[in-house]
Amino acid sequence: MPGKREVIKLAVLASGSGTNLEAIAQSIDDGEVPARIALVLSDNPEAFALERARRRDIPTRVIRLSDFPDRPSYDRAVVAALQEAGVDLVALAGYMLLAGPELVRAFSGRIMNIHPALLPSFPGTHGVRDALGHGARVSGVTVHFVDEGLDTGPIIVQEAVPVEEGDNEESLHNRIHQAEYRAYPLAIRLFAEGRLVVEGRRVRVLPEGP
Ligand code: GRF
Repeated sequence: MPGKREVIKLAVLASGSGTNLEAIAQSIDDGEVPARIALVLSDNPEAFALERARRRDIPTRVIRLSDFPDRPSYDRAVVAALQEAGVDLVALAGYMLLAGPELVRAFSGRIMNIHPALLPSFPGTHGVRDALGHGARVSGVTVHFVDEGLDTGPIIVQEAVPVEEGDNEESLHNRIHQAEYRAYPLAIRLFAEGRLVVEGRRVRVLPEGP
């Protein structure tokens, strides 16, 4: 666990647009998060997240599932890339693949995901759509440690987002995104400051040091 004033090396795994990557990078630039993004890794060569990384001179890697005979060998290649970059923390940010056991075990306690709903409600790929379809009055965002299940790991940060009359998937997701841009940098900051202690299912947040 890094000490309070150290700067951790972070990898962001993203398959799509990468607005969370952008928010994390911006909060680092603003001095709010003691981290450096050492690698942006994607399974999708077309991911706009890669372009965002290039614009910020952040190293990128594309590792495509289709280039590997099976999932374990793909995951081993991802783990090797992350270890090569010497990363302390892996942040999944719109990474469309469920992290495989090889990846989870290699970075146990050092891998986070962001989910656009208040877990354990509405896990899976369509968290926003499912909350809306269910008629939830409140949804939100969850940052959690990743275990081998689907969106099941210990919860680090949550922020509620009310569902408004007339919301559709896009309008609700837009407001959830705004909460994500606060929640993910906060979770990464707490980790980087060595303030997250996992006790079973609960994550204890230690008070800020002197
Ligand atoms: C976010 O809503 C995140 O919660 C979900 O995927 C989306 C990624 O958005 N896992 P972006 O690529 O960061 O813009």
